[in-house]
Amino acid sequence: MCGIVGGISSSGTVLAHLVEGLRVLEYRGYDSCGVAVAEGGSVTVRRKVGRLAELERVLADGALGQARAGIGHTRWATHGKPSDENAHPHSDGSGKLALVHNGIIENYLELRRELIAEGRKFHSETDTEVLTLLVGREYDLGKSLGDAVRAALARVRGYYAIAVISTGASPALVGARHGPPLVAAQTSDGAWLASDVLALMPHTRDVIYIEDGEVVELSPGKVAITNLAGEPVTRVPLRIEWDAEAASKGGFAHHMLKEIFEQPDVLARTAFDRIASVHGDVAFEGAGWDDALLKRIKRVQVIACGTALHAGMIARYMIEGLARVPVDFDFASEFRYREPCLAPDTLALAITQSGETADTLAALRLARELGAYPASICNAIGSTVVRESEATILTHAGPEIGVASTKAFTAQVVAAFLLAVRLARARGMIDEARGRELLDDLRRLRPRMEGLLSDNTVHRVRAIAERHLKAKGFFFLGRGLNFPIALEGALKLKEISYVHAEGYAAGEMKHGPIALIEPGMPVVVISSTGRVTDKVRSNIEQVKARGGHVIVIGSDADSRSLGDESIEVPEASEWLSPVLNVIPLQLFAYHHALMRGCDIDKPRNLAKSVTVE
Ligand code: M6R
Repeated sequence: MCGIVGGISSSGTVLAHLVEGLRVLEYRGYDSCGVAVAEGGSVTVRRKVGRLAELERVLADGALGQARAGIGHTRWATHGKPSDENAHPHSDGSGKLALVHNGIIENYLELRRELIAEGRKFHSETDTEVLTLLVGREYDLGKSLGDAVRAALARVRGYYAIAVISTGASPALVGARHGPPLVAAQTSDGAWLASDVLALMPHTRDVIYIEDGEVVELSPGKVAITNLAGEPVTRVPLRIEWDAEAASKGGFAHHMLKEIFEQPDVLARTAFDRIASVHGDVAFEGAGWDDALLKRIKRVQVIACGTALHAGMIARYMIEGLARVPVDFDFASEFRYREPCLAPDTLALAITQSGETADTLAALRLARELGAYPASICNAIGSTVVRESEATILTHAGPEIGVASTKAFTAQVVAAFLLAVRLARARGMIDEARGRELLDDLRRLRPRMEGLLSDNTVHRVRAIAERHLKAKGFFFLGRGLNFPIALEGALKLKEISYVHAEGYAAGEMKHGPIALIEPGMPVVVISSTGRVTDKVRSNIEQVKARGGHVIVIGSDADSRSLGDESIEVPEASEWLSPVLNVIPLQLFAYHHALMRGCDIDKPRNLAKSVTVE
């Protein structure tokens, strides 16, 4: 959730790099931020509640500009409200050491009591300060910073990625990980670490993912990894193929808008090279998706959170419909605590943009323990979920910075479709010709997505959003493959516009929620041509009979003619209609939020990657 950066250099100041790194990572958490640098025999901390701009004002005096080593942090509060005191870095009071942390120290209360009993003073409400004082206590005994960190970590229970800086004969920079991600990189005259590769891109594309239970010591030109016992670990750097430009706004007003418009390219990158037209099949790179394994699979268990779970719900329709394999799905946060029963030969499919979501990761680990085959659909090469999966379909959406997921979602749905076709072919449920037909439909989707992203659609969506700016609440309804799209449309609006929106299965309305419909209430209905179109039309009539104001999104012209307002979506095969239908809903949420003056890329209370429970 929080963003961590750190750097040490033999040839120049690190402060500007730390600030730039925090700017890149601010999307991960943004209620306060800070830096600490080692200079002139002491460690100086500057931190501020609010956005990075506040911290930059504090740093404008230039006093820390010469430092050769430092750490930085942008926070998403877990323990203690956003305030200057609770902002990171935290120091141990000695002026020799400071620490930043992402995660939760679960036994912080007992450790805090122990430290207070020793006469140590606390200045914040955070769990992080406990860890800082523990490291400080070990460091005071004359240990190296690496040894002090290893000794302190032996006392804590919980999840962390940390970076610690100290002064001594020369500055030292150490990181450690158990849970939340941490990546390091070395250059000829420096070494850098961060909670996300994005912040390392200005330095190098060759990065080293730190794994759970590892400590990393950085010095100019060198990254040395050990385990908690201090034994060396060797790891080859991994090359990141995309460049930093991919994470910029590229002329768009917001990352979210840019990411919505990138979707046709994301579809092509995720799907086209994998289509084996001659065989009417899909060829995934890497091991793990071969016929022998897929024939053995008896069930699929999808585990994911938020938007990724909506993609997983669509995966169920696709896999059951095409490959005839039963699919269950669950919120990862529920799965991990409900003592699940998994049938033999279950494929556990984690779907995740970041590959670092704590609940998804824990659920995948549990599924593996229960005997399932761990697999994933993921956007982050090198992430923990990918490393812990036997097989992965990478989504190639590129970095997604907007907190509201858009392009990662469509990429997940496309990947799920590829998987459904692969499973269906491997199990003989569809023949070569049918496979080819399905994959041709997928190829045809790209120009349709481009057409949908026209000025005309944007204009119409914006006008509808404006007409309903003052609405107290919205319903989003859909059936079949487009029921999860209704959930997703509602989630997008809630997240960035802060308006109450409820996604519902249209056929379920009559079992209760229809009581909420009152004259003029906006009800967005997704209706595309397919096996449930007639049913959706009846549901529209039911809402209209109660005075609801119906906005129809989809390819079915009859449904649109029933609506009070509508957005036409190009025709596509029913399996792929969700990929098109979600686009007007993303644009709707975007424009609604924009007109309400909301912070679109950094909505309140949220963070991009939820690496704590
Ligand atoms: O990185 P993940 O895909 O695992 O993230 C899962 C959810 O936290 C994420 O989809 C969240 O719901 C988004 N903010 C939705 O826009």
